[in-house]
Amino acid sequence: MTASCGAEPSALPPLQLQVNGQAQSLAGVPRAATLLHILRNDLGLNGPKYGCGLGQCGACTVHVDGVAARACVIPAHGVAGRAVTTLEGLGARGDWHPVQAAFEEAQAAQCGYCLNGMVMQAAALLTRDPQASEARIRGELSGNLCRCGTHIEILEAVQRAAVRMRAEVRS
Ligand code: FES
Ligand code: FES
Repeated sequence: MTASCGAEPSALPPLQLQVNGQAQSLAGVPRAATLLHILRNDLGLNGPKYGCGLGQCGACTVHVDGVAARACVIPAHGVAGRAVTTLEGLGARGDWHPVQAAFEEAQAAQCGYCLNGMVMQAAALLTRDPQASEARIRGELSGNLCRCGTHIEILEAVQRAAVRMRAEVRS
């Protein structure tokens, strides 16, 4: 049976998803809400940053089922049932992900606004391909903007992380 003309659109069911390994059920999420909006505003996860809001700077990058994705342009309901990882779920002080540890060691930040995106993008790449060459790393990060011009330190950090992750694969 089809809805009659002028009927209210049916309410969306609660949004179910896994965030940083925890099941979340969020009621009342508007159809137009982005994943970034619910992560920051409903779940208090401020690792992913709002930069351009257009999918063009990378500041909001998260992993969806292990793949780097731009949370500012993904409809929240579009990831129902999927596993989302934010910077907070990648690692924590004392148990950093190798990419986070390398960024800290290399002091690869000025203002730090781009770092969430750089770290999440690099972590997804190196998990997939710990052998990634410098050219591959540069290509992967080419869509992540850094207005402070910290690119050399960022590249060094990612290469440092790659060495560490290759060693982990071997051991
Ligand atoms: S804020 Fe998402 S890509 Fe810029
Ligand atoms: S360190 Fe400031 S935007 Fe990259």
